[in-house]
Amino acid sequence: MKYVLTPLIFAAASSLVVAEPVHELTIDAAGDNGHISEHIYGHFAEHLGRGIYDGFWKKDASGEYIIRDDVVAAMKELGVPNLRWPGGCFADYYFWEHGIGRKDQRPTVVNNLWGGVTEDNSVGTHEFMDLVAELEAEPIVVGNVGSGTVEDMANWWQYINHPGESPMAKLRRENGREDPWNVKYWGVGNESWGCGGHMRPEYYADLYRRFATFLHGYGDVKPFRIATGPAEADYNWTEVVMERAGHMIDGLDLHVYTIDGTWQTHKGQAVNFDESGWYRLMRRAMWMDELITNHKAIMDEHDPEKRVWLIVGEWGTWHEQEEGSTPGFLYQQNTLRDALTASVTLDIFHQHLDRVKMANIAQTINVLQAMILTDGEQMLLTPTYHVFDLYKPHREAKALPFELDRGEYMYEGEEGDPLPAISATASINDEGQVHISLTNIDPHQARTIEISMDGLKGKKVRWAKILTADEMNARNTFEAPEALVPEKFKGAKIKGGKLIVEMPAKSLVTLAL
Ligand code: AHR
Repeated sequence: MKYVLTPLIFAAASSLVVAEPVHELTIDAAGDNGHISEHIYGHFAEHLGRGIYDGFWKKDASGEYIIRDDVVAAMKELGVPNLRWPGGCFADYYFWEHGIGRKDQRPTVVNNLWGGVTEDNSVGTHEFMDLVAELEAEPIVVGNVGSGTVEDMANWWQYINHPGESPMAKLRRENGREDPWNVKYWGVGNESWGCGGHMRPEYYADLYRRFATFLHGYGDVKPFRIATGPAEADYNWTEVVMERAGHMIDGLDLHVYTIDGTWQTHKGQAVNFDESGWYRLMRRAMWMDELITNHKAIMDEHDPEKRVWLIVGEWGTWHEQEEGSTPGFLYQQNTLRDALTASVTLDIFHQHLDRVKMANIAQTINVLQAMILTDGEQMLLTPTYHVFDLYKPHREAKALPFELDRGEYMYEGEEGDPLPAISATASINDEGQVHISLTNIDPHQARTIEISMDGLKGKKVRWAKILTADEMNARNTFEAPEALVPEKFKGAKIKGGKLIVEMPAKSLVTLAL
């Protein structure tokens, strides 16, 4: 690590010189670190809190639920490669038959999991398929293994996908839909080690084999079968499920949430935190790298050809829900801290592209680390939405290998190791355009990144944007919905064959070359 001397100019015209760390980043523009699938930028919408009702849907004057145009427009702008539904935990309590047919004849059930609220099944299969059609997203449907039967799940699959004459295709047509929806991605249960049935991996592996057997290919649609994967560091789950059922699995669904605290006691606050909370959340987000590395190593033993995808089907920050919000609704604010945990996590996914081909941040609207918050007719885009926007150029591009002197960030009041201060992604698209995203998690220290890359000489910075703020907990509110948005970044220049980027503390920068 080297340092440059940076003059700080004070109003009184006196100046002080401070040392600013300089990090070298060497990008191999001819290298190939794997394809960044757009599916890594997937989303998740569960029947939970105000994610579905009062999120994607709102009531019209007649009391009917209709899809919100403003929300769909914002999400389309971002691009939604896939949307996972109906849960989450809700999936293993969900009976799809309740959500089809005339709305006034659909049964009302209790959502015991999330707030004990009434679920009138207004949004069911047809409504969800209408939504994904509007979003131009691939649906991921999660079937019920925990409390449903093999017959239920096979019938749902047939209802959605059978193109010809069959009892379920007939029922679908009676309900107004002629053609099958051709859904490929299919979850065989969710968190079967927890809310999905508290199963042992041995038992789940057998059940998985049984349920998966009855998902038949119809026409061109072959099921892409996704098994419940491990929770965090449950390596035994991965071992047992891959060993016993791996040959029938297409994707293994790992769930990892970023919490500042513990599941048992207190998960930490979304807005009211100090630097120790900043440090701990960053540390927790970076844990993803170790988890993926270790799960991958187990998968490699059972599937050396790397046929099975590691899907991070639920990830994101999970804080104590906002005071005054409905219990069980998991509504939380979203700050610059959440945003930078997202960029760091995306960078980690981009380092594991041999296995990580799909991921879903939880959850799209009004729940956990959301993209959008709504309040009646109002809506706002969260800082995390803007991270996804700044990472858009990396989608479907080729990840470039690089070497980075990451430096260190440490909060002295905490025990533990220093964290890498700088995180990065570099990619090249089909047009030969290079995009680089850099995150400086250090909340105090500006840092300079000196980027070397073959062929940099003829390049120029086409555009550069930054997401940053003075406060660690900067956020968008309904009073100030654009308090934290990406801005034009002027701190990058090409000099002496290098790209020099002067990153402020706690910032994310994306550069297009
Ligand atoms: O995303 C909220 C919940 O977290 C999901 O329902 C469940 O799968 C996970 O435990």
